[in-house]
Amino acid sequence: MSWNQDLFKRTLDFAAKAHGPQQVPGSGAPYVVHLVKVATEVLRAAAGSFDVDFAMQCALLHDCVEDAGVKVETLHLEFGSRVANGVHALTKDDAVSKPERMADSLRRIKAQPREVWLVKLADRITNLEPAPAHWPAEKRAAYRAEAQVIHDALGEAHAGLAARISEKISTYR
Ligand code: NI
Repeated sequence: MSWNQDLFKRTLDFAAKAHGPQQVPGSGAPYVVHLVKVATEVLRAAAGSFDVDFAMQCALLHDCVEDAGVKVETLHLEFGSRVANGVHALTKDDAVSKPERMADSLRRIKAQPREVWLVKLADRITNLEPAPAHWPAEKRAAYRAEAQVIHDALGEAHAGLAARISEKISTYR
């Protein structure tokens, strides 16, 4: 598998700077650890019939608008409209009511190229690590149920990632 390593590094540098001192909720690891884990899932899945560079960029940048306050316009200027649109679709819209937010987000992701679908699947696969100890049972159940909704909406994009998220769902506690 080959990809543009300079693009990977430039995008990683941008994402690491954008997230600054943020930490992964629960583990306290630097946020960039989450981004690289998602990118790793995506890189492996995308090798073959997907645009690996595009998938990887969306993976590294997927939380920078939602969690780090980067403007979509900045992504347009830095990385072009394809990447900016992909990341925008991966960003939950605060203006949408909370119960509707995931459905709205999935609808917008489904309007994007398949690489963007892979990132959403890979993000949830990465997040289905054991839940933080303080999470109550109903929060875990809701997170698990939401993962199934993501699987059902986007799983057709990639059989391997669909199987992987199913496996994570079945062992999530
Ligand atoms: Ni994420």
